[in-house]
Amino acid sequence: MKKALVTGKRRDGNLVEFVCKCPEIAKSAVPGQFVMISVSTTLDPFLNRPLGILWAEGDYFSVLFEIVGRGTSLLAQLEKGDTLSLLGPLGNGYSLDVPRALLLAGGRGIVTLHFLARTLKEIGISISMLFGIQNRSEIVLSRYMVNCAKGVQRFCCEEEISGVFQGTIVDALEDYATVQTIPEGTGVFACGPEGMLRALARHPLLENHRVEVSLEAVMGCGFGVCLSCAHKGRDGYLHVCSEGPVFPLSEVAW
Ligand SMILES: Cc1cc2nc3c(=O)[nH]c(=O)nc-3n(C[C@H](O)[C@H](O)[C@H](O)COP(=O)(O)OP(=O)(O)OC[C@H]3O[C@@H](n4cnc5c(N)ncnc54)[C@H](O)[C@@H]3O)c2cc1C
Ligand code: FES
Repeated sequence: MKKALVTGKRRDGNLVEFVCKCPEIAKSAVPGQFVMISVSTTLDPFLNRPLGILWAEGDYFSVLFEIVGRGTSLLAQLEKGDTLSLLGPLGNGYSLDVPRALLLAGGRGIVTLHFLARTLKEIGISISMLFGIQNRSEIVLSRYMVNCAKGVQRFCCEEEISGVFQGTIVDALEDYATVQTIPEGTGVFACGPEGMLRALARHPLLENHRVEVSLEAVMGCGFGVCLSCAHKGRDGYLHVCSEGPVFPLSEVAW
């Protein structure tokens, strides 16, 4: 296990962001990868919890998580100055060799796409980003949208909010496509709830595009040993931790 010092903490309702110092992880992390964090100093809960990397820069990286159960509740109790035990960076990453990119983020799927957007911009690749939330309780996540410069940036919510496009990310994509073509070769990257990814898999607008999705699964080990993270693929099972979490959309079965 590696150690990371929590150097910053921000909490907004059920969302917590930690900035951590750990050069070993920060210097080698790429967008799409995750860490497995020990949430307790005892054996209960036993399993580490997987969290995507929000950004990495110099000696620092960050994670952003939603408190959904016991593990994340315990983790949220840590404060600046505490030390995390963790494994990582784990998994593969998104492809960066694209001429331009369209990023589709749903809810906390913004985490790894935030890192991807920052990285693509740094290497001079033009990005557009559509970000959708289900209701106003998630609005704080819009802070993690990345300025797309010349690209298009859209924010949508399924619940009605004044001044915000109302609908799902699929509705936002269809609306985007009425004013903007998605040129051949565009790298499309999606991360969000399974229902969103399933809807994108069937969508004719993405039929001829290379689409990569990041999957979530309940994980035991995080590095290919326990096989708890199996997800149905077109050609047998995919192991989300060791073969993913990023997969070509065409390889995933729903
Ligand atoms: C590669 C990867 C990256 C992730 N990145 C993030 C992230 O950046 N931010 C974030 O908030 N969450 C992320 N998750 C989900 C996060 O790992 C779970 O929410 C967390 O492990 C729940 O732990 P818990 O003990 O609080 O909840 P539990 O008490 O274990 O479960 C509470 C609820 O969460 C569901 N759940 C538990 N584990 C997972 C899981 N791995 N995936 C989906 N649902 C789960 C359970 O089915 C249950 O409904 C990621 C998961 C994976 C696999
Ligand atoms: S989590 Fe153990 S094999 Fe993937």
